[in-house]
Amino acid sequence: MAIRNIRLDGDDVLRKECKAIDKMTPRLMTLIDDMYETMYEANGVGLAAPQVGILKRVVVIDIGDGEAYTLINPVIVEQEGEQEGEEGCLSLPGLQGTVIRPERVVCKALNEDMEEITVEGEGLLARAICHELDHLDGVLYKDRTLDGLYSVNPPSED
Ligand code: NI
Repeated sequence: MAIRNIRLDGDDVLRKECKAIDKMTPRLMTLIDDMYETMYEANGVGLAAPQVGILKRVVVIDIGDGEAYTLINPVIVEQEGEQEGEEGCLSLPGLQGTVIRPERVVCKALNEDMEEITVEGEGLLARAICHELDHLDGVLYKDRTLDGLYSVNPPSED
């Protein structure tokens, strides 16, 4: 496994549409392992392949609920409710913004064995799923903020 370079806002690769994955390969398995390592090292709760420069439809999520999710070709098939909350992204370090997301989503995807899975997420998990899936379509949370971005640790004025 290896830590990969996280692409930052402004990099064109973050604005591209990712391609569906048709089969598991050793190369793809290595990518997924590296994505987990990169996400954990950066203290993130999710990472999408374009954030490490790979335009494939795969994301990893671990919000610390005891389960890690590898979602290949993920699609949100149900959503309900609304939540307003703070969001950040490893590709926009030091920044946050307020984004409205569904309170609950149901996501269908393939796992690492290319088996169909259904993940139901509420609260933070629903937010993470929506955020990571957006990356696969070249969308960043800053496109969805209610009142723009702000610094997590504002520099002192003096
Ligand atoms: Ni992100």
